[in-house]
Amino acid sequence: MIRLTVNGKQVEIQADPMTSLLDVLREHCHLTGTHQGCDTVQCGACTVLIDGRAVKSCNRLALQCQDMQITTIEGIASQDGPLHPVQIAFSQHHALQCGFCTPGLIMRSIALIQERAPSDEESVRAALSGNLCRCTGYEGIVRAVCELLRSPKATTDQVLPDHS
Ligand code: FES
Ligand code: FES
Repeated sequence: MIRLTVNGKQVEIQADPMTSLLDVLREHCHLTGTHQGCDTVQCGACTVLIDGRAVKSCNRLALQCQDMQITTIEGIASQDGPLHPVQIAFSQHHALQCGFCTPGLIMRSIALIQERAPSDEESVRAALSGNLCRCTGYEGIVRAVCELLRSPKATTDQVLPDHS
């Protein structure tokens, strides 16, 4: 039995101990916003937050996340509420086209804001280098993340959803 808290809800899942967190999220929790790209830890499309840290969920057994807090793209804004500030910044800077990479990049960006990562372009490009995008050429993505990291409003309170 695997116990997780996913987007604030407790879930208990019967699954093979070798099941990845990515498969649990997509196939057991039906949270398909976390994308399956390479499945070999290269593309970052599967990035989620585990206890607030950005992790590629294809590279983590669900069992390793026992009793941990998992946040996926579905958990950062309510369906009928306003977009999350990182989603707004991506939209304003035209940081997405097909959108396949976008959930992973947004979760990575939220983690960078929480970590108060450096906001210069070179550092941001390095920090995002584990998340691949085949469409945009990265310019809008980097602009959006630099702007968020420089914004005095980009605080942990703002970027971490409160599911309590
Ligand atoms: S699907 Fe996990 S890194 Fe590509
Ligand atoms: S927007 Fe298409 S892969 Fe990034």
